[in-house]
Amino acid sequence: MNREVPTVPPRPLLVGMIAVLLAAPAAAKPPVYATPAEKAFVDALMAKMTVEEKLGQLNQPAGVGNNTGPAAMTGNEDQIRKGEIGTYLGTQGAVLTCRLQRIAVEQSRLGIPLMFGYDVIHGHRTVFPVPLGESASFDPVEVQHAARVAAIEASAHGIHWTYAPMVDIARDPRWGRVVEGAGEDPYLGSVLAAARVRGFQGDDLRKPDAVLATAKHFVAYGAAEGGRDYDVADISERSLHEVYLPPFKAAVDAGAQSIMAAFNEIAGVPMHAHRPLIEDLLRKEWGWDGLLVSDYTGVMELMPHGIAADRKQAGALGLRAGVDVDMVSQIYVKDLPAEVKAGRVPMAQVDASVRRVLNAKYRLGLFENPYRSCTDDGAHERAMTLTPQHRADARRMAQKSLVLLENDNDVLPLSKSVRTLAVIGPLADHRRAMLGNWAVAGREEDAVTPIEGLKAALGDGTRLVIAKGADIDSQDTSGFAQAVAAAKQADAVVMFLGEHPDMSAEANNRTSLDLPGVQEQLALAVAATGKPVVAVLLNGRPLSIGGLKGKVPAILEAWFPGVEGGHAITDVLFGDVNPSAKLPVTFPHNVGQVPIYYAHKNTGRPPSEQEKYTSKYLDVPWTPLYAFGHGLSYTTFRYDAPVVAKKTLAPSALQQQVSVRVTNTGKREGVEVVQLYVRDDVATVTRPVKQLRGFQRLALAPGESKTVTFDLGFEDLAMYDDRMQRVVEPGTFTVYVGGSSDRTREVAFEVAAQ
Ligand code: GLC
Repeated sequence: MNREVPTVPPRPLLVGMIAVLLAAPAAAKPPVYATPAEKAFVDALMAKMTVEEKLGQLNQPAGVGNNTGPAAMTGNEDQIRKGEIGTYLGTQGAVLTCRLQRIAVEQSRLGIPLMFGYDVIHGHRTVFPVPLGESASFDPVEVQHAARVAAIEASAHGIHWTYAPMVDIARDPRWGRVVEGAGEDPYLGSVLAAARVRGFQGDDLRKPDAVLATAKHFVAYGAAEGGRDYDVADISERSLHEVYLPPFKAAVDAGAQSIMAAFNEIAGVPMHAHRPLIEDLLRKEWGWDGLLVSDYTGVMELMPHGIAADRKQAGALGLRAGVDVDMVSQIYVKDLPAEVKAGRVPMAQVDASVRRVLNAKYRLGLFENPYRSCTDDGAHERAMTLTPQHRADARRMAQKSLVLLENDNDVLPLSKSVRTLAVIGPLADHRRAMLGNWAVAGREEDAVTPIEGLKAALGDGTRLVIAKGADIDSQDTSGFAQAVAAAKQADAVVMFLGEHPDMSAEANNRTSLDLPGVQEQLALAVAATGKPVVAVLLNGRPLSIGGLKGKVPAILEAWFPGVEGGHAITDVLFGDVNPSAKLPVTFPHNVGQVPIYYAHKNTGRPPSEQEKYTSKYLDVPWTPLYAFGHGLSYTTFRYDAPVVAKKTLAPSALQQQVSVRVTNTGKREGVEVVQLYVRDDVATVTRPVKQLRGFQRLALAPGESKTVTFDLGFEDLAMYDDRMQRVVEPGTFTVYVGGSSDRTREVAFEVAAQ
């Protein structure tokens, strides 16, 4: 069982402490990096620092972006010499970062090395699938490896610190940043958050290819009202603890050395000033001693939030809340020295943050080895970039991220002996769509487009008839005739439809989940030819593609699949790889259903066809278009009834085993993501109808059966009671096992009262 699933212990200051029914076993403890040697070193260094130098360590200007090589720096070099810069955002490149590092180490009074931060979100130069796509793999080992490859490349480019993983749970696909995370589920999100932290940080922070991981954006950023980025998150204490905090706790337990504050407020308190959640929960309750960085101008934004009248008040609030590093505002370094000297900002708050910045640099070994990735001509950087192995890793990750949504009449896989293949749609040769968004160091020229992937796989044996048909987002249908004509002369059709990569990610929110422009109409016009048509979707959020269902026989969700996307899509289209991915997020029939997610409550009037006065709509089903966990294969699987080891658990022995036999009933090998969900049937507070509590990738040859076993323990059965105490209550629990949240078999057991 994935044991990274965290507990988020309640906060005594908000709830009366009472004896919980059953003591929660100790949650996984984060690795301890603090040492007496670190403390002694940092104490001695801080004793020499002036107020200005201390506040300088908390200052993080925006760097020179994607420049690599000897790009000239403008403006910051004097600030470095004066000790007014502690870390950089967005500066990369071995030669450039080393030149700046030499200024800091050799030309400033105390020689404190810089730490270079960068958005390495899903790969550095070898861009992997967007995180939502990676998450569809349900493969923490592969996801961890992808982060490890990203760290190897990024560190070779002089980067010490990545602002990833983004671990925000997202249940509103209008929100553009749903693409950057692991979807709607706290359990999956927690397992993958821990995997990504381990991948980025590696097994030893002092190794030159380790980069600090940053769990972001703390917290509940994905709960933005209206799906509008940066908007209010007005959520309950229960949702905060059950949905939005767990992936951060998993990241902390995996040893994440940094966390980034979110832009949003929660119930009136902006996160950049949220002392209860930062100081009291993160640091005191969870015992986390890492570095908390603001988001871009997040400290300054306390003014438009309306809780700071001016810059110095914004700075004082941020520092007081425990925001250690001021990204880009330059408030800490410019406006706070006077406040500190006047005694209006406690020196102790400054010292606490400075210590955490110096700890981070110490843990990376930068004081001993500030030039850890420097080679004067950038040879190491070049040697580590886009290696054949890294490309192979990206291709494998992409193959595992592709979700087969529909495959009527087994249209897929296509045969490579197809004589004429029509390739239609605005994304068939869209290089940027392979990278997706937040591929900051990625370069379009590194990407393999779908057409290039098809040509490489099919060679001259197949004639490709290419017709764009329509733009991504226009009302122009003048290209339809050419597309239909191409389809009519072909033996099969592959369409590449979806969103522009700038229609998701930061600030890229949509009020519609439809295919943009006239793409759905184009697909229907092509499907009307009666040819075998496959639609490949390239998109950064769930799409309401119900109009294609039953008309386009095969639909493959490809997200934005990375530099090797063209090859990976082709590998699956022609059956070299059998798709195994599952949806990490629900696909609604239309945006009017939002929010819609599988772990919903039953309500007092659960939806019913027979009963009018129940919770449902007049115009669309209450169920989703595609459920969380949905994903087909080129083979089929049969689940026998799950079996529990014990029908009754004693409260003092909450260990349960659930076994299920799965058989490959098809004609080819395949991997099934076996999913296990749990429901606490009756409790003192309402519980979701299902909660993911385990998944395993199971490879089966044709006709082969295997029994999968899941271990359930306290954390898998626990809930927060009405006092927010983590308990397991007596009563029945139902376990659901299957290949999707909406296709399961079940078994029940009981937790005895005494
Ligand atoms: C952006 C994003 C954050 C990113 C930071 C630095 O505004 O919110 O995720 O890491 O700025 O680029």
